[in-house]
Amino acid sequence: MRMRWLAVVIVLASVAGAQGPVVASAKDMSAAGSLAQTPPMGWNSWNHFAGKVTEQDVKDAADALVASGMREAGYVYVNVDDTWEGERDPQGVLHANSKFPDMKGLGDYIHARGLKFGIYSSPGPRTCAGFVASYGYEQQDADLYASWGVDYLKYDLCSFGTLMEAARDEHPEDAEIGNRMMKAAYVKMRAALDKTGRPIVLSLCQYGWDDVWAWGASVGGNLWRTTGDIEDNYARMSTIGFSQGVIAQYAGPGHWNDPDMLEVGNGGMSTEEYRTHMSLWALLAAPLLAGNDLSKMTPETKSILMNKAVIAIDQDKLGVQGKRLSKDGDLEIWTKPLSGGSAAVGLFNRSSIATSMSLKLSDVGMASPSAIVDLWSGQRRVAKEGEVKAVVPVHGVVLLRVEP
Ligand code: GLA
Repeated sequence: MRMRWLAVVIVLASVAGAQGPVVASAKDMSAAGSLAQTPPMGWNSWNHFAGKVTEQDVKDAADALVASGMREAGYVYVNVDDTWEGERDPQGVLHANSKFPDMKGLGDYIHARGLKFGIYSSPGPRTCAGFVASYGYEQQDADLYASWGVDYLKYDLCSFGTLMEAARDEHPEDAEIGNRMMKAAYVKMRAALDKTGRPIVLSLCQYGWDDVWAWGASVGGNLWRTTGDIEDNYARMSTIGFSQGVIAQYAGPGHWNDPDMLEVGNGGMSTEEYRTHMSLWALLAAPLLAGNDLSKMTPETKSILMNKAVIAIDQDKLGVQGKRLSKDGDLEIWTKPLSGGSAAVGLFNRSSIATSMSLKLSDVGMASPSAIVDLWSGQRRVAKEGEVKAVVPVHGVVLLRVEP
C-alpha cells in the first residue's frame, strides 16, 4: 500500500516538475489586484472546531457574527477550513462529505446575512487532514466553488510538499525545482479562480517556506501564512507575533502577511494575553480571522474582538504593517504608522512581573501630540516631559493611538 502511494507520488511529481517557468505575468492577475485592500476579517472553523466542524456550526457562526455585532465591526468572511471534503464522482466533481449536505445552500445562507463564504483546499492530492484536494482538478474545483458562491479560498500546501520532495529526489541537480512547483501550483489556482469571473480572495498557506512574503503577491496571493500553526497559549502566540516585524515591508493593500488566525476566546490565555494577541495582530496589519466558538462568547471575549479602535488600527487604509521600535529584555515597543499622520504604539511586557514602561514621544515623531488615547481603557493619557509612562501588566500591553 505504502509503495503504491509512493509510486503515485513520483508519477505526479514528474508531471508537476515538467511545468515550465511560472511567475512571469502572474503579477497582473486581475481579480487578485482589487481584493483585500485591508486585511481580511471574519471567522474560520479550524482553531476551535478543527475536524469536527459541521454545517450547523458554520451556520451558527454566521448567525453569531450578525447577532453579536461582529459583522458591523468588519468580520465578514465565514471560512470553512479542512474536513468538509467528500469524494470525487466519475466526472471528477468533488462532493462535500455528510457533515456538509448542501454547500450551495450554505453559501446562500451566509450571503443572505450580508457575509462572505470561504472554503479550504490544497494544491496536493490530499489536504493536511487527509481529505481529497485539488491536484489535477484545479479548474473543476474553482468552478465548483464559484457555483457555490465562494468568496475566499485558503489553499494549504500539505501533501504538495511530498510531491516537491519527490521531485527534488529525482532531480538533485535542480535546487529550485520545489520552489518552482510551489509557485506554479499557486499561479494555477489563481488563474483558475480568475477564470470563474468571481472575485475570490486567495490565501496561501505554506507556513512561510522559501520566504513566501517576497513572492506571494507575484503568484496572485492576497495573503500568505508566514509561520507554522498558532496554538492557544501565550508562548506560541507571542513567539509568532513578536517575530513578524522583519517582514513588514512585504505587506500592503491586496497582499498581507498572515501570522495565522486568532485564538481569542478559546480559553488558553488570560485576558491580558488575549489583549496582547489582538493588539499585536492589529499592529501587524494581520488578517483578523476569529477562531473561537462565536455562539458562546463571554462579554470579555466580545470586548476584545470588537474593540473598534483596535480594529481601526488593523484596518487603517494606509495599509502599513507595524514593527518593533525598541526592545529592552522582555519589554518591547512596537509602532504602526496610520493615515493622517497618527501612530499606533504598543508597549508590551513579555515578562512575568508587572513593569513600568515609558514611551519617548519623539521616537514616534510627535514630540507634542494633540492626543494620546489608551485604546483598551478608552482613557486619554498625559505626557510629561515628552514621555508617556504606564505600568504594563504581566504578558500584557498598553496600546496607544498618538495623534499629531
Ligand atoms: C494546516 C494549516 C491549519 C489548518 C490545518 C487543517 O495545519 O496550517 O491552519 O488549515 O492544516 O488540516
